[in-house]
Amino acid sequence: MERPDGLILGIETSCDETAAAVITTDGEIKSNVVASQAELHAAFGGVVPEIASRRHLELIAPVVREALSEAGVTLDDLDRVAVTQGPGLIGALLVGIAAAKALAWSRRLPLAPVDHLRGHVASLSLQPAPVAPPFLCLLASGGHTLLIDVREDGTQHVLGSTLDDAAGEAFDKGARLLGLGYPGGREIDQLARAGDSKAFDFPVARVPGLDFSFSGLKTALLYATRDLSSERLAERRADLAASYQRAIVRALVERVREAAEQTGAERIAVVGGVAANSELRAGLREAALAPLELCTDNAAMIASAGRFVEPVPYPGYLGLDAYASR
Ligand code: KG4
Ligand code: ZN
Repeated sequence: MERPDGLILGIETSCDETAAAVITTDGEIKSNVVASQAELHAAFGGVVPEIASRRHLELIAPVVREALSEAGVTLDDLDRVAVTQGPGLIGALLVGIAAAKALAWSRRLPLAPVDHLRGHVASLSLQPAPVAPPFLCLLASGGHTLLIDVREDGTQHVLGSTLDDAAGEAFDKGARLLGLGYPGGREIDQLARAGDSKAFDFPVARVPGLDFSFSGLKTALLYATRDLSSERLAERRADLAASYQRAIVRALVERVREAAEQTGAERIAVVGGVAANSELRAGLREAALAPLELCTDNAAMIASAGRFVEPVPYPGYLGLDAYASR
């Protein structure tokens, strides 16, 4: 049988998704398996790091096995392993890194350590519609909100970031105040469709430069809900969700447009979990948007970024460590 050319196994365990994927060196996705632990953490209203690490330990081997089997390959067919090195929960990251080291070592493969945020950006360079730089990239996830100037040669320059909460964090905290489940972004997105986005006038923080701020918005929602009885809150929940979402989306869209104007960027791209938001997608219709399944954490994007980093040759990576923040 002919050996498939240039295959990369990607592994991602930075937060509460255990993920493995197989892609080709030209960015074709052969498999993309994501085991979400969201239900496990929902009872606590957020990710519990120790529970996440333990669950990654249970899931990593079956998830990798499924990714290989779905791609119709074995470890012997691989040319490289790519793994998220950081930023993220340290215990969670270490599970993926240990698995990646062991798998790469067992076949004497090189190992590519990948920055999770670069992974999100690299979700855009997968088939069937890869987006080539230069572009202005909004990365909005649960942990980060960044505006990145991605230059023609692939180098990345951060133009702005959040001064407090990330956009996804604002969605999650807002959902909690509204009594919705975790993770909250998708719940608010769905509920907002039934609400009036002009019902409440939530502020959009104006901070200098190209930075973002979402903590004031969260406080405004807290005050709005605090004054309502539980019955009244139930009646107004969709309106609150719609108004709150509108404020977050407006803040993101306005900043992206300002940055595009300042840098003269001809192309805008949006990645990260919040890029799955329907109102944001509608608000930046002209932008290159990662497909929905590649917006939230996955390993195809990590494998994709693994194409662009210098891999550590066998066996030099055995001492490789995780990092919690950039
Ligand atoms: O990129 P991601 O999967 O993980 C991080 O790297 O943080 O992003 C997760 C975040 C969560 O905060 C979640 O609430 C948010 O993305 N999210 C959404 C939507 N789907 C996920 N936010 C708004 N609308 C959505 N449809
Ligand atoms: Zn992420």
